[in-house]
Amino acid sequence: MFLGELADTLVVETLVTGDVELAAEIVRSGGVVAFPTETVYGLGANAFDGEAVKKIFAAKGRPADNPLIVHVSDEGQINEIVAELNAHARMFIETFFPGPLTIVAKSTGRVSEIATCGLETIAFRMPSNPLAQELIKGAGTPLVAPSANLSGRPSPTTWEAVLEDLGGRIDCILKGAPTEIGLESTVVDCTGDIPILLRAGAVSLEELRDVVAETVVLNIGDSVEIRSPGLRHKHYSPRARVVIIENDAAIEDFSDAAYIGIDLPVGVFGLLKIASTTEDYAHAMFEFFRECDRAGISVIYCQSVSEQGIGTAIMDRLRRASDLATN
Ligand code: TXA
Ligand code: MG
Repeated sequence: MFLGELADTLVVETLVTGDVELAAEIVRSGGVVAFPTETVYGLGANAFDGEAVKKIFAAKGRPADNPLIVHVSDEGQINEIVAELNAHARMFIETFFPGPLTIVAKSTGRVSEIATCGLETIAFRMPSNPLAQELIKGAGTPLVAPSANLSGRPSPTTWEAVLEDLGGRIDCILKGAPTEIGLESTVVDCTGDIPILLRAGAVSLEELRDVVAETVVLNIGDSVEIRSPGLRHKHYSPRARVVIIENDAAIEDFSDAAYIGIDLPVGVFGLLKIASTTEDYAHAMFEFFRECDRAGISVIYCQSVSEQGIGTAIMDRLRRASDLATN
């Protein structure tokens, strides 16, 4: 992974623009465009254009077996890509679209198989960010979009972070504000009788259960490979080592260490981020990881939070960025 293994032939001029019409035109002509959503920045291409979709995998150095989420702007586009929506999927759509929830349903098979990795299911969501909606409408097609980072790195929450990872590797960055939420969407599999939460995100398990009480959490080891291919890969990692700590942990003073958490730590750190709430923690985390890398920090101590609401997603990302990750 990382630059050493990426194709070096991929040198293109990256246009950075606030002009959504221009960005849409680049998508229409088969290009790849990074754009803001309410969760993190995505790297989008026409979902029906296999050649364009290949450029996403090449630019990110993304494993070819990790399928992409389709981003839609209206119900008509959902009907183009989804063959069957059961009652649970409909209830989630009604409650959470547009917003940070991705639903997995049976596919019509129309989306490029490069994007779906040959699966018979499709993951889709309707972003609420107005620029994302305008881009999809302007392109006139659903967009497949993973997070706009080099594979394995923290997801980008600013256009500058996209440029840092993908400058010279993609056609365009549609400039917007820093993303509101800062962590990726919740992914829920609605292909069976009972919805299965595959990835924690901004929509919490509690909120899903308010809509469909039977919703369960994916049991790791329980056919993870089939259910959610993305979960196998190590993710979200800064170059610095990520260490999760409880709030009463004693840390020695390190000038090349950093801390992020809600409570003030004991000790002196090279970089420090005290979040006011768990939402603020989620919002700041990935950009803080990148800031630590820029500053040459070697260890980032991250305070654990309780696994409620968005706290579940924070802990999921921390574990997968940390020493606890196995791959
Ligand atoms: O918030 C987000 O979801 C962002 C923004 C850009 O929308 N996107 C994002 O995409 O996080 P990505 O590629 O980093 O994560 C996609 C996740 C992966 O875990 C992948 O395995 C899962 O969605 N996925 C995609 N298609 C699937 C399918 N048919 N069945 C199960 N999981 C699927
Ligand atoms: Mg990602």
